[in-house]
Parts: sequence; C-alpha cells; structure tokens
Amino acid sequence: MILRKTLLIFSLFGLTACATKNYGDDKFHLQMATHGKDVMWVPTKVEMAHEMLAVAKVKPGDIVYDLGSGDGVIPIEAAKKYKVRSVGIEYNKDLVELSKRNADRARVKDIVEFRHGDIFVEDFSQATVLTLYLGDNLNFKLMPKILKMKPGTRVVSITLLHRKETLDTLLLILEFS
Ligand SMILES: C[S@@+](CC[C@H](N)C(=O)[O-])C[C@H]1O[C@@H](n2cnc3c(N)ncnc32)[C@H](O)[C@@H]1O
Repeated sequence: MILRKTLLIFSLFGLTACATKNYGDDKFHLQMATHGKDVMWVPTKVEMAHEMLAVAKVKPGDIVYDLGSGDGVIPIEAAKKYKVRSVGIEYNKDLVELSKRNADRARVKDIVEFRHGDIFVEDFSQATVLTLYLGDNLNFKLMPKILKMKPGTRVVSITLLHRKETLDTLLLILEFS
C-alpha cells in the first residue's frame, strides 16, 4: 500500500490574536503566553478556527480532535458550526475546566469532550479531522503517530512562520492508493 500525501499551504493574513486582550472567564483569568507543557498557550481567533475547519472540509459524521486545545475554541466552533463531535486534549487542567465551561456557554457540551492529558500519551486515532496549533517542533514529533492515522484523515496545522503578520495553515491529507 502506498501512502500518498497531499500538501497545501495557505497564507492567512490579519488573523493573529491581539496580544493585549484578557482571556478566560470569571473563574480563570488567562493571559497570552500562559505556560503549557511543551508549548505555551496562544489564542486562536474564532475566524482562524473557522478557516481551519473550512480548509479541512469538515462534514457531517466527522470527528474533530484538537491537540493542545487551550480554551477549547476549535472543538467548540466545530460543534457549533458543523454539529460534529469534537474532542480537545489539553495538559493544563485550568484550561480543560475553562473549555468545559465555554462549551456549556456555547450550548454544545453534549457533543464536545475535553480530556485532560498529554498529546503524546492520549489516543487520537479516532479523529477524521485533526487540528494543530503547536509549532513545527511538536508537529514533527507527532508525525509518526499522524502517519498511522486512518486514510482520508485531514490534518490542519497553523504554523507561525517568522513573519509576525502571517500565520500559515498547512493541510496534510492522508490518502492510501
Ligand atoms: C498555541 S496553544 C493552542 C491552543 C488551541 N489549540 C487554540 O488553537 O486556541 C497550545 C496549547 O497546547 C497545550 N499543550 C502544550 N503541550 C501539551 C502536551 N504535551 N499535551 C497537551 N497539551 C499541551 C498548551 O497548554 C496550550 O494550551
């Protein structure tokens, strides 16, 4: 069986989050660059989450996993916009609890799950769409697991390149022929 990978790169301008904003809620105040296990927390704007999900062509029946799910914006937007099941895996317990409250506020808690765990330990093989905002080093470390995922899995990653104003989204589609 030959593994064929389709690689597309999209440049998205003006979707970087504002560094000065306060995040979180009344129970947990979150700041830009909050420490994370292998990479810090940096917010994703809702528009960027939508862009990633659109790039992945999310459709009914998909299961969306976000690795290092932060405040839960990507799984929550997937559930809200596409009514699909979604799962976030996050190491920071406070962020997991915040994500659960955010899902409740967004009225999608029935189809969104947040797991407290390490992305290098937790199983995400059920995903049909995988979203990543982790940076190149972690993407690279995850690659052996990603390449074992089911054929047809769409993997979308935001990669912050060296130009401040630009976020690039990289789409890797796993296909077998
Ligand atoms: C750049 S933020 C992205 C947050 C979210 N995906 C988003 O787009 O808004 C990276 C997240 O990964 C989490 N993280 C770092 N290392 C992790 C690990 N080994 N396992 C689980 N989560 C991790 C951090 O706590 C942080 O919330």
